[in-house]
Amino acid sequence: MRENKQRSSLFRKKPIASAGDNSSALKRALGPLDLTTLGVGAIIGTGIFVLTGVAAATYAGPGLVLSFLLAGIICAFAALCYSEFASSIPASGSAYTYSYTAFGEVIAWILGWDLILEYGFASAAVASGWSGYFQTLLSGFGLELPHALTSAFSPEKGTYFDITAAVITLIITFLLTRGVKEAARANGIMVAIKIIVVLIFIGVGVFYVEPTNWQPFLPFGISGVTAGAATVFFAYIGFDAVSTAAEEVKQPQRDLPIGIIASLAICTVLYIVVSLILTGIVPYNMLNVSDPVAFAFEFVQLKGLSWIVSLGAIAGITTVLLVMMYGQTRLLYSMSRDGLLSPVFSKVSGKSQTPAVGTWVAGIIVALFSGFISLGHLAELTNIGTLFAFAVVSLGIIVLRKNNPDLKRGFRVPLVPLIPILSALGCVYLMTRLAALTWITFFAWLIIGLIIYFAYGRHYSHLNPARRISSAFRAKDK
Ligand code: ALA
Repeated sequence: MRENKQRSSLFRKKPIASAGDNSSALKRALGPLDLTTLGVGAIIGTGIFVLTGVAAATYAGPGLVLSFLLAGIICAFAALCYSEFASSIPASGSAYTYSYTAFGEVIAWILGWDLILEYGFASAAVASGWSGYFQTLLSGFGLELPHALTSAFSPEKGTYFDITAAVITLIITFLLTRGVKEAARANGIMVAIKIIVVLIFIGVGVFYVEPTNWQPFLPFGISGVTAGAATVFFAYIGFDAVSTAAEEVKQPQRDLPIGIIASLAICTVLYIVVSLILTGIVPYNMLNVSDPVAFAFEFVQLKGLSWIVSLGAIAGITTVLLVMMYGQTRLLYSMSRDGLLSPVFSKVSGKSQTPAVGTWVAGIIVALFSGFISLGHLAELTNIGTLFAFAVVSLGIIVLRKNNPDLKRGFRVPLVPLIPILSALGCVYLMTRLAALTWITFFAWLIIGLIIYFAYGRHYSHLNPARRISSAFRAKDK
C-alpha cells in the first residue's frame, strides 16, 4: 500500500541500485584519458574562440580575466558536486539521473527537460560559432555563400538561415551514429590540434602584449565583470558532458571524477592566460568581432598565424559540437529508457550499438535551431539552463548525503554543505545577470515540459505501478 502510494507520487524516486543498472546496451569502451579528452573536447570552443570578444567589448573590458576567474570558481564547485554524483551513481544521463535518485521523478523530469534545452541550444550555439570561423576562412579563399544563407533568421539584415551551421550539425550527427569509440578517436585528434593552437596563441601572443591596453582595467566596473562572467560561463560548459558517458566507461567510479576535474582544471588555466593576452594585444573596444582570437594575430600583422588559429578554432569547435550532441543523445536515451520519453530515443541499433534513430531526430532539430536562431540568444539560453542544472545538482549532494550516508562513493565533495551551498548560490547569482527575455523563454520551456510530463511521462514512467507489470513482460520477451 505504502509502496504503491510512493510509486504513484510525483516524487517517486529511482532506487540508486537501479540508476546504475546493467540494462544498458551501450559498449564500455572509455578510460580516464578518453574522458579527459572528451571533457577538454567539450569545453574549449565557441566560448573562448568567439564569445570572449563580445564579453570584453560590451561588458568586462580587460577585466575579462576576472569574469573567467569568477565563472571558473563557480564551475569548480559545481564540478566537485558532479564528481561525487558521478562516482556514486555511474549511470548515463548525468544530472537527470542524479536528481531522480535524490529528489524524485517530477524534479528529475524538470531537470532532464532543462538539460535537453542546455545540450540542444549549446550544440546549436556552437555550430553557429563554427559557421562564423568557417565563413571567414572561406572568404580568405575568395569564396562567399549567398548572403541570405550566411546567418540566423533576421530579415532586416537580409539573412534567413545559417546553412553552414546546419550542415556541420548533420555531419556530426552522422559521425555519432557510427559508434562511440570511432567518434572518440576523431575527437582525440581534433582536441590535440585545438590545444596546440591555444598554446601557439599564448606562446606567440605574449610577446605582443601592450600593458597600456589593460588600462582602464575595469571600464564597466564590477557589474561589467559579473555580467561578463554570466556570458563567458558558456566557455566552461561541457565538463558535465563527461558524466553523461558513465555507462560507456570501464571503471566509472574512479575515472569519472578524474575526467571531470582534470578537464575543467586544464581549461580554466588556459582561459585565464588567453583572456589576459587577448586583451593585452587588442584594445578591448575593438574585440567585438566573430573571430576575436584569430583577429588578435591579424591585428599585429601575423596573417599566417591568424589563419592557423582559424583552422584550429574550427577543429576545436567541432569537437565541442561532437561532445554536446553526444551528451544530448545519451540524455534522451536515459529519459526514454525510464519511460519518460518515447522509446525511439533508447532503441539501440545492432552493429554500431548507438541509439541511431534518436540521434537523427535530435540532430535534425538542433540543425534547425542552429540555422534559424542567433548565437547570442542560443548562448544565453544555454547558460540559464546549465546554471539551473548546476544549482540543482549541488543541492542534490546535500540531500544524497542525508538520505544515503552509506552509499559507496569513489569521490567525496569536501566541506559539505558549504561547497554545495556556495555552488548553488553562485549559479543563481549568475542567472540573475542574464536578460529578462532569456528568463521568459526559460520558464516557457519548463512549462511546456511539465505539460508533456503530465500528458505522457507520468503514465509511461517505469516507476508507474501500472506500467511496471507490462515492462516486466517486455523484459521477459527480449
Ligand atoms: N564550452 C563550450 C564552448 O565554449 C560549450 O563552446
